Amino acid sequence: MSASKANVQAAPLSEAVRARFEREIAKYPAEQKQSAVMACLAIMQQEHGWVTPECEKAVAEYLGIPLMAVHEVVTFYNMYNQHPVGRYKLAVCTNAPCMFAGGSQALEHLCDKLGVQAGETTADGLFTVQECECLGACGDAPVMLVNDRNMCSFMSREKLDRLIDGLREAKE
Ligand code: FES
Repeated sequence: MSASKANVQAAPLSEAVRARFEREIAKYPAEQKQSAVMACLAIMQQEHGWVTPECEKAVAEYLGIPLMAVHEVVTFYNMYNQHPVGRYKLAVCTNAPCMFAGGSQALEHLCDKLGVQAGETTADGLFTVQECECLGACGDAPVMLVNDRNMCSFMSREKLDRLIDGLREAKE
């Protein structure tokens, strides 16, 4: 983490966010409140769209843990956005079982269809395409996760096309 990131101001926390933090912290013994770090980061991401350095600082201060400990969690897990993303984040698994089942081709097809490289967001801000690590659903390979929640299995080109078209229509 750069020195500039370490010097950022913590993002302000609304009453609603503090209440949500407290509900997560209450799930653990009092001396283990740092265990709520992932849930608190997820809440910040829902609020801000991505986990800004200010969000990391706010979570670290709230839980009373080092900023670096929070930063390590953010950078380890794919579900945390370290940059702004589009309305639909498409994370395509390209680990071995998915790769052998066409994961790389699925990623390439998505990128071609949307006119972006992996890691980029479409100009209209609708889609971000990412390559990701194993999603724990290798038996359904190749798989893709939409917005960190909805797993799409056995992704053929036709299924990808239908999904993208459907999401575009949903937006309209
Ligand atoms: Fe893709 Fe496990 S390798 S889900």
